[in-house]
Amino acid sequence: MKKIQLPNGRSLSQIAYGLWRLSEAADTRVDANLARIDACLAQGISTFDHADIYGDYRCEALFGQALKARPSLRDQIEIVTKTDIMLLSAQWPQTRVKHYDTTSAHVTASVERSLQRLCVEVIDLLLIHRPDPLCDAQALGACLDGLIDSGKVRAVGASNFQPWDADLLQSRMKHRLQTNQIELSLLHVDPLTNGQMAHAQTHRMPVMAWSPLGGGRLLTQQTADGSASSRLAAKLEQLAQASGTDASAVAVAWLLHHPAGVIPVMGSNRLDRIRAFGQGLEVPMDRQTWFELYELALGHEVP
Ligand SMILES: NC(=O)c1ccc[n+]([C@@H]2O[C@H](COP(=O)([O-])OP(=O)(O)OC[C@H]3O[C@@H](n4cnc5c(N)ncnc54)[C@H](OP(=O)(O)O)[C@@H]3O)[C@@H](O)[C@H]2O)c1
Repeated sequence: MKKIQLPNGRSLSQIAYGLWRLSEAADTRVDANLARIDACLAQGISTFDHADIYGDYRCEALFGQALKARPSLRDQIEIVTKTDIMLLSAQWPQTRVKHYDTTSAHVTASVERSLQRLCVEVIDLLLIHRPDPLCDAQALGACLDGLIDSGKVRAVGASNFQPWDADLLQSRMKHRLQTNQIELSLLHVDPLTNGQMAHAQTHRMPVMAWSPLGGGRLLTQQTADGSASSRLAAKLEQLAQASGTDASAVAVAWLLHHPAGVIPVMGSNRLDRIRAFGQGLEVPMDRQTWFELYELALGHEVP
């Protein structure tokens, strides 16, 4: 699997594994999590996507226990994590309302907690999880530059940012933002036209696509009711059969075909599905096939 280069010269694997749902897995013991990591590495998937909040603040630690059990893994992987969402959680009894916190105090403390939970010395890529309407960009920019200069994080980026959110933060920073992680799939095509993809390309940042299978909904749509989503599911199935893969691989191939350099962040807990993450690389995708799927995603032909 090829690597996708970031503006700072470092790289991420072309497909990433997201750990949002890890705490919901039937088996979250260290050996089971090591097996998930091994299944990724066997295909060249070396980028692991976290957030402090995943699993009610527990997923980073589940992953960290696996790294602690096998420290040699650390140098083979890139760890991405995120900060700024404050959940209503028993872990934070003083939180009255779900909110975002991009203050230096919160971001710095959150990084320290992530390092501890993940059992690592440095985070490869820290993302601001959601744009914060109360963000003091000057202060956040200085905080993020400082985290890079201190060696706690190697690089920073954005998530769910609109172009103007990214431009504002970047204008207050010395170091470059490396990516924008956004919702992008055949069930969420807005970024193709709302400026997010164009902005990423303008700044030569790869895009990390979250929920590339629409959280599984892309594969569970009914195929017999004649609706646009049903026709999309049927088309995915037809292309899967033609390429000897499955519908999820075709959906991934559709993302990989975009010239921006899209990194699908896959989310299964099942070993059989994890082992097949790389199949999207084997599905042939040409311009007209891409547009056939896009048309079905839109529900109408392009103007
Ligand atoms: N930055 C953000 O704001 C943000 C937001 C959401 C997610 N993310 C990141 O993106 C990652 C991926 O998100 P996601 O988990 O929603 O990705 P996804 O790959 O679109 O969906 C994964 C879900 O689909 C199910 N699934 C996979 N293949 C299936 C199939 N053939 N049939 C039926 N169900 C199937 C999986 O269930 P099984 O486990 O049973 O396979 C899992 O529940 C997250 O882990 C996280 O790292 C980021």
